[in-house]
Order: sequence, then structure tokens, then C-alpha cells
Amino acid sequence: MRAVTLSAEDDFEGWRDAARALAQAQVAPSEIVWRVGEGGGDLFAAEPMALPTAATTTLKVPRDFLQLAQTVVLHSDPQRFALLYTLLATDPHRIEDRADPLVRRVELMAKAVRRDIHKMRAFVRFRELVDDSGPRYIAWFEPEHHIVRANARFFVERFASMRWSILTPEVSIHWDGKTLSEGPPATRGDAPADDPVEAVWKTYYASIFNPARLKTGAMLKEMPRKYWKNMPETALVKALVAGARARETAMVETARSAVGGNVEGAWTALRDEAAACTRCPLYKPATQTVFGEGPLDADMMLVGEQPGDQEDLAGCAFVGPAGQMLDKALDEAGIDRARVYLTNAVKHFKFEPRGKRRIHAKPDAGEITACRWWYEQELALVRPKLVVALGATAAWQITGKAATISKLRGQQLALPEGGTGWVTVHPSYLLRLPDAEAAAQAYRDFVADLRAARALVG
Ligand code: URA
Repeated sequence: MRAVTLSAEDDFEGWRDAARALAQAQVAPSEIVWRVGEGGGDLFAAEPMALPTAATTTLKVPRDFLQLAQTVVLHSDPQRFALLYTLLATDPHRIEDRADPLVRRVELMAKAVRRDIHKMRAFVRFRELVDDSGPRYIAWFEPEHHIVRANARFFVERFASMRWSILTPEVSIHWDGKTLSEGPPATRGDAPADDPVEAVWKTYYASIFNPARLKTGAMLKEMPRKYWKNMPETALVKALVAGARARETAMVETARSAVGGNVEGAWTALRDEAAACTRCPLYKPATQTVFGEGPLDADMMLVGEQPGDQEDLAGCAFVGPAGQMLDKALDEAGIDRARVYLTNAVKHFKFEPRGKRRIHAKPDAGEITACRWWYEQELALVRPKLVVALGATAAWQITGKAATISKLRGQQLALPEGGTGWVTVHPSYLLRLPDAEAAAQAYRDFVADLRAARALVG
């Protein structure tokens, strides 16, 4: 048994260099103990190892593997270094085989890390302290994985002009406006408990509070209780629940003004938060959240059903066959796709695996409702003149209730959040029609609906 000691829990470079040398020397995974820090971890009296210098074999490592490893190294599972090394030493191309149990395990670890990264971005709350040099913002956060250093750049970019510190039980990071530095682990008591910044947060949160948040199960999933204690707005939940319904229609107006004109920043934060969404179980098998995209001042918002197979892989809405059909029809209707905000009623791909294929499955009522929060936030930020629903699932999302296309098509609809809705068929419906003449007619009708929508936005 030989030991490799890495310098820190998130020491990807250390793992990579050691793993490469060991794999080239064909050292078996069972021969290595991975540990962290001086005297870290292992109970076996393993000999510290001098890394092999002369390669006995060449090793080609796919870039995807390295990217995956870089994420997985941040996981809190002590087995992570060994699991990654097993993949590397056997065949790093194994990661293409999603049915491989080891690959599956490692991918789930990567997913958990990504979620933790997004949770930190969404749930860190700064409190203000004023010292001789002015205000300084301190946050306390308890991540599940070793993500703090990897996430630091995000906070530097987001809060470049502030002086801030994020304190965690593993490490503290500090930004003075120019330099990022690192300090020792902290405790919750090191961060201030209350301050005027909280008041701003509370106002913002109260203004965007939405009945969707009332579903305690969904709320807990998205905002686990362990984070609640560090979030000033949770103190408001009781009062907000009481007044939630009355606020529903005012919400759209207030959300945009509450972000103080920083619509772009609010949208980016929302998209990042949605990337970690666990409101319904669809996130588990899906590759990623496919969030809406397009200009935030668009007059028209198009809402599809859910990402398909290709969208799930690409991370962008309407890039597969339905997207091509939509592009053609938009073009004929004189609508510039680049001027439209395009999103989906449900933001994860729902499918049933059949062999190697993933067959589209319709989202159910629970999934549509769970995803409504994101649609409402997009609506509140973009405030389009017209929301066009493509198909029955989208019609349900925008109107808030189940209905058939034939009932709603061709009418201007008053939407629950305010604004006007318009319903037409989904482009995939056109692709499924078996009769060529019927398909051609349905396509002409679809284009006519889009033209009418264009006329409505003026
Ligand atoms: N179908 C949809 O409804 N949305 C997409 O993004 C792709 C296909």
C-alpha cells in the first residue's frame, strides 16, 4: 500500500499530477491510499510515496474526464480521489458509458457539487459592518462540499466593488476590492447577526414573495432548512404567507423595480438558482436545467413545453427538430427569434429510457406547478407585451389551469399575473401529423397564429 498526500480537500492539481504519474506507471488503484494534509485521513500506516518519474505507458486523458474530475474532487466523499483514479487507470473513456455504475456514481457526485455551488451563489447573504475604511460585508455559509475556493471567482465578479468576506467552517475568503485572500476556518459567531442590509433583503424578498413558495415541501427542497437560519428573509415567511394571495397580481410590477433596475443581474441570479433546482424529481435524470433565453426587454415571450433530448444536452431551448420547425414558422410570420424571449413551461427534460434512446414524456400537473415559480420570475423580469403558449402544457402554465388548445386558440387571454396571453399549437405536433396535406394546413394555421401574435405586439 502506498500513500499520496494532497495539500487540501480541493487539491485537483495535486490529484491530477499524482494520478497521471501513477496511471502511467500502471499502479493499481488498490495499491494507493489517498489522503489530505499532513498525516491526513488514513488509518493504515501507508508509506508516503515518491511518485514514479519514468512513464511506462503513455496516457491520453479526454478533456471531458478532466473537467468531470475537477468537479468531483470538490465532493465531500473521502472516496472521491480513489474512484476517479480507478476510472483513470482503467479507461477514462468509460465516462461516455452512462450505464457504467462507477461513471453513474461519479456523475452523481459532480451533480451534487454543482448544486452546492449554485446553492452557495443563491443563498449567501451578506451583513454589513462599518469600520474605519467604510462598509464591509460579511456572510456565513455552510457548504456541503469543498466548493468555497472554486466559487470565489463568482463572488469577486458579482461584488467586485465591495469589500467582503465569506466565512465557512472550512476556510474564509476575503475580497478587499483588489485582492482575494484566504483565512482560517470560522464559526457562525464570527459573522454579524443583523444589520441594515437585511432590511433591503427583506424588502426585496417580500416584494417577490410568491404563493409557489408556500409549498413547504418544494420550499424545503429548494431552500433547505439548514440554509434558512442564515437567511434574513425566512423570518418573514409567516407574515408573507398570510398576505400572499393579495400580493399575487402586484408581484409582476414590484419584482422588476425591486431589483433596482439591475434586471440583467437579477435574471443571471435567477438562472443560476434554477440550475440547482430540485423542486420536482425531474432534475434527477436530466442533464441540466434549460432556462429561458433572449432579450430581457422582449415584447414577446414564447413558452414551449419542456426541453427535448437535444435541448437537454445543449442546455438551450428549441435547438432540436421542434426548434427548427419553430424557426421556419417564426421567419415566415416575420418574427425575429433573436428579439423574442424563449422559455419552457417545465425546465427539465422528462423522458423514459428505451434502450439507448430517451423518449419524451409529458410533464404532469405536479411538475408544471413546481416549475411555475421560474416562469413567474421570468415573466416578472421580462414583462413582455404578449406571452405566446406553444401547446397545451405551456397554455396550462401561462393561464394557471389545464385547458385544451381548441378552447383557447385565437383569443387574447387575460393572464393571472397581468398581461396578455395567446395560445397556439406546439411545433412538435406539426412534426407528428402523418398526413402530408393535414400537416401542411396545420403549419399554415400555425404561421397565421404567429402572425396574429406579431400584430398584437404592434
Ligand atoms: N420542445 C419544447 O417545448 N421546448 C424545447 O425547448 C424543445 C422542444
